[in-house]
Amino acid sequence: MCGIVGYAGRNAAAPVIIESLKKLEYRGYDSAGITVLGKEIETYKAVGKIVNLEAEIPKNLGGSVGIGHTRWATHGRPSTKNAHPHNSGGNPGKISLVHNGIIENYMALKEQLTGEGYVFNSETDTEVVAHLLHKHIYGKPDGKEAKCELLVGLRESLKEIEGSYALAILSADEPGKLVLARKDSPLVIGLGKGENFAASDVTAFLSHTRDVVFVNDFETAVLSPAGVEIFDREGKPREKKIEKIEWDFEAAEKAGYEHFMLKEIHEQVTAIHNTLAGKVSELEGDIYLKELNLSEDEIRELVRVQILACGTSWHAGLLGKYLFEQLAGIHCDIDICSEYRYRNPVMNEGTLAIAITQSGETADTLAAVREIMSYNCPTLAITNVVGSTITREANSVLYTRAGPEIGVAATKTFTTQLTLLYLLAVKFALVRDRLSPDYVKSFITDLRKVPGQIQQILNQKEIIKECADGFARSKSYFFLGRHLNYPIALEGALKLKEISYVHAEGFAAGELKHGPIALLDEGTPVVAIATRGHTYEKMLSNIKEVKARDAFVIAVADNKDTEITKYVDVVLRVPQSDELLSPLLSIVVLQLLAYYTALARNCSIDKPRNLAKSVTVE
Ligand code: F6R
Repeated sequence: MCGIVGYAGRNAAAPVIIESLKKLEYRGYDSAGITVLGKEIETYKAVGKIVNLEAEIPKNLGGSVGIGHTRWATHGRPSTKNAHPHNSGGNPGKISLVHNGIIENYMALKEQLTGEGYVFNSETDTEVVAHLLHKHIYGKPDGKEAKCELLVGLRESLKEIEGSYALAILSADEPGKLVLARKDSPLVIGLGKGENFAASDVTAFLSHTRDVVFVNDFETAVLSPAGVEIFDREGKPREKKIEKIEWDFEAAEKAGYEHFMLKEIHEQVTAIHNTLAGKVSELEGDIYLKELNLSEDEIRELVRVQILACGTSWHAGLLGKYLFEQLAGIHCDIDICSEYRYRNPVMNEGTLAIAITQSGETADTLAAVREIMSYNCPTLAITNVVGSTITREANSVLYTRAGPEIGVAATKTFTTQLTLLYLLAVKFALVRDRLSPDYVKSFITDLRKVPGQIQQILNQKEIIKECADGFARSKSYFFLGRHLNYPIALEGALKLKEISYVHAEGFAAGELKHGPIALLDEGTPVVAIATRGHTYEKMLSNIKEVKARDAFVIAVADNKDTEITKYVDVVLRVPQSDELLSPLLSIVVLQLLAYYTALARNCSIDKPRNLAKSVTVE
């Protein structure tokens, strides 16, 4: 999740762009860059926060049109050469652009453009857009004469691009304006007097104007100091409604949500979609994990998977254990990292270690990884932060593409970790001939439905809020689940304790009778994850056990399940889905339950007491 900005006005562009980028820093800040267009294109870049970029820019830099970018890396580690803007057409370049999104077919385009003589300076997916545009406008890498306008070249280029984008582009041959395009990434235009703005969100220019126009998918736009023109997919001009922003800055940064956590719960729809991008083919019934440094033979020969993680990431790993064993038939162990290194683990040949860590910086996880690597065991890291320490140590890295997570309680990083674990387990099963391509096809079809199903849950969040409000003063909560829903019960309990400070415990539902049931008394809220599956009947028996102790049962169940209402007090619904994938839906209900409980208890939701986003001490 990067941030882009654009400015076309009468004032010097650089200070306006720097100010706007600082407002977008919450979208990621591993590197940043700016291009201004005066007599020619001038580009400056720096690693780290925007202040580092500010220090690179000459004080009296001219040019009243410009673009800027703050980066959250998805392809290529944070570095000056991977920072945007990316230019094409020599030095200083004819074309300069910034991008937010993912170009899914960038590998194929890169190969094609390299064959035509274009030289790539970065490892990013974005650079292909700069060269593709240059090719459409100038014909060849050293072409000097423009054969068409920037906007026309852009329209031609977009026909070849698969993926998501918000683009802001400058051309040295078309001074005084910048060109914009959008598909599946946010883009908004701010209308000033003699100056106009563009950005990933309105916070970037709220101090200059509150009059905005939202750019829709497949629209392009031309921004100049005099005005804005917007065009549809075919290039026909479009009339757009001007809207007035009434939010203050802080609300706008959270896109109108009261807390980052709620915003991030909602962002799971796009985060899962982005994590899947370029990795699945419904047509082929195949999964592509090219970042995984394991040959098909090595996958076939795997004897064991060892998962290492902490906290929420450990819960993702526990679900992964069920998947690797059930789908791929590979023995899987999972350890809490702070325990692993002090328990003298027994290692065997053919083990793959998978370390799961959203931050990539957790000290316990890094220590466990170093321990297992000392046995020459290949390691795969699953993380959300490009360039984090774990990515420099593990043999392979798979990135969750959740974008920066600001709320301390992990939400979208958890569901995207699960998404990658599903892909890994199914890929291993396919390679080991335990699943057919036809099964994988239908699995991918179902997986692709998940973001839409999450949206359906979000649309009914008021029902979950009502339930949370009713129990906000309870002293203790129980969470029960079986099979794949057992890790989800643990995660639901952890979310509740972290942000609402209510005591909560998650249990494997069958374990309750072995002790914890003694804690139940009248009215204790028990959340039972009871989506349809092969343990459904057993779950009903466990629900009856707790009802017999006068507990108050809140079930998470499929929206077609009418039977469940006979046994429980409240039902929170999720869309009907494949048993395997239902945890991705149930957890969203539990995240919202925790969120609204914390809200009712007036807790500090985004920064809970005693907790930190990355735990860099042992
Ligand atoms: C809970 C949470 C923590 C982390 C744990 C590991 O919401 O975020 O339990 O999961 O501290 O952190 P990472 O995944 O960064 O290794």
